[in-house]
Amino acid sequence: MKHFTRILATATLVAASAFAVHADEFRLGLITPPPHIWTKAAEAFGAELSEKSGGAHSVGVFPSRQLGNEAEMLQQLQTGALDMAFMTVAEVSNRATDLGSFYAPYLANDIAHAGRILRSDTAAALLEPLPAQVGVVGLGYGMAGLRQIVSRGDVSSSADLAGKKLRITPFTPILDFYNALGAAPTPMPLPAVYDALANGQVDAIDMDAELIWVLKYYEHADTIIQSDHMMFPMVGLVSAKVWAGLSDDDRAMIGELMAKHVDSTIDSYIEKEAGWLEQIEGTGKTYTKVDASFFGDAIDQWNTIWSEKAASLEKLRAVAAETE
Ligand code: BEZ
Repeated sequence: MKHFTRILATATLVAASAFAVHADEFRLGLITPPPHIWTKAAEAFGAELSEKSGGAHSVGVFPSRQLGNEAEMLQQLQTGALDMAFMTVAEVSNRATDLGSFYAPYLANDIAHAGRILRSDTAAALLEPLPAQVGVVGLGYGMAGLRQIVSRGDVSSSADLAGKKLRITPFTPILDFYNALGAAPTPMPLPAVYDALANGQVDAIDMDAELIWVLKYYEHADTIIQSDHMMFPMVGLVSAKVWAGLSDDDRAMIGELMAKHVDSTIDSYIEKEAGWLEQIEGTGKTYTKVDASFFGDAIDQWNTIWSEKAASLEKLRAVAAETE
């Protein structure tokens, strides 16, 4: 009998540890391709988590939308079918409106200023409601570069974009911005963009310098407008269901390391943005630098809409003023 009890206890232990090992093979999804800064940061996070946990935890990184688009991945995080993601704040803002304030046109004067805003306590506080609101835990911000416009044909003023099909990332703040400008904003996920611009399905795209350069979006365009009109934050997420099942020690380790690696992307963009823009300018395409005045009253319209939609807007403006 004793022997049987011991076998049962051993079997239970084996089953429990098999489950623990399985549970600790976290899956992390992204939409960015393997060479992208976000994907590299996700891999570095996985490597450090594995090292610091003595191999108890590992992270399988699934780039390029292998687990679905961001809306699908967010659903999977909610149900616990996916453990982790590095995701655009854009997608999360579709469920947590206060995050939309990050996209106030010209909230940041430049990319380093965008970094300082994202590293503020006010920005961190905007992640606190996510477990209850969205079913995810936001552990820290990263970012991509500031937004630029790449267009087929000549664009010498914003009137040249009127009625033009202009690809946007699918989220409301940017939709509001280009609607105010009089363009025809066309929501489209990242992987569809190159072909859409190449075959004329869209006339222009809203994009950052890294991808314009690395994925060669300029190849099928005539005009690059360096407008720097919005920041583009990213957030490191863990499923709230998965988080609830972790020990305090694991939460502390995962929280610290994920925050560190998403934050590292901020330094990467601050360091590299100017170089990508120089290379894009060197392609011989028409390259125009513009400021807020290019967008006429579209910015005021956006501010009116969003000061009603999101109480966070005034708070982030205060941070922007303090960190200038
Ligand atoms: C975009 O939708 O433009 C985008 C998405 C993820 C990273 C960078 C850009």
